[in-house]
Amino acid sequence: MNSEKNKDQYLELLRNERKRILNALRETSFTQLDSTIVHKQVVPSASYSPWETDKEFKKIYDIARNNTLVDIYRCYELWALVKRAVALQGDILEVGVWQGGSGAIMGEANKKATSSTLYLADTFKGVAKAGKQDTIYKGGEHADTSETIVKKLMQKAGLTKYKILKGIFPDAFKNKLDIKKLKICHIDVDTFESARGVFEYAWPRMVSKGVVVFDDYSAWGCEGVTKYVNGLNLKDGVFIHNLNGHAIMIKI
Ligand SMILES: C[S@@+](CC[C@H](N)C(=O)[O-])C[C@H]1O[C@@H](n2cnc3c(N)ncnc32)[C@H](O)[C@@H]1O
Repeated sequence: MNSEKNKDQYLELLRNERKRILNALRETSFTQLDSTIVHKQVVPSASYSPWETDKEFKKIYDIARNNTLVDIYRCYELWALVKRAVALQGDILEVGVWQGGSGAIMGEANKKATSSTLYLADTFKGVAKAGKQDTIYKGGEHADTSETIVKKLMQKAGLTKYKILKGIFPDAFKNKLDIKKLKICHIDVDTFESARGVFEYAWPRMVSKGVVVFDDYSAWGCEGVTKYVNGLNLKDGVFIHNLNGHAIMIKI
């Protein structure tokens, strides 16, 4: 009886301690780079982690993890969104490929889609179009990549249905690209103007139930992207702010 009581007391202490630590983390402030976009550490209470038991995801994540700056939560969401969109018509576009990690994960998730191409767009010279809406990015960051690095990763993952688009998107591809329908567009470009350019290209091409994912929404240092997304007021889209940092726009 006594030992049961001790155990209950111990568990209660542990619960309180956990609550205290989580609350302390949630109060962690960041240097405010833009007074309209406030940052504090986001620590949800959720703990369900399907990425731990999804063998297919784990296999591609192990191959791609060293080639991505995107954390496992956002990688898994990309994986799940692409999987759910397998039956939709249209291609997949990622702008902001860097070393190919998130692109490989989407490519693997889309493997069963027969008539769909994965377009992987990057300058391969780093971040473009930084401007006064952006707080940290000045241009040229994340230039530590190449087409060869991306191709090697795709080969390692056994992916062949992809095309690399090298240059500033969409400017470098006017009249050169014939994407008619998109089902998924992953925008991971870090700056306001780049995000705007990609979204304005992609949105009119999105099929019904297609999804645009902004990686940088909510990221400290990417306030420009957050501002761009907050300024959108679409009549033909549903907006979801996922606490993992994604902004998700579903075409209706
Ligand atoms: C944070 S990295 C992308 C990370 C990548 N998705 C991953 O899995 O780690 C941002 C990339 O966007 C690219 N970029 C930024 N603006 C661009 C634009 N307008 N057109 C093409 N690439 C762009 C940069 O060259 C850089 O490689």
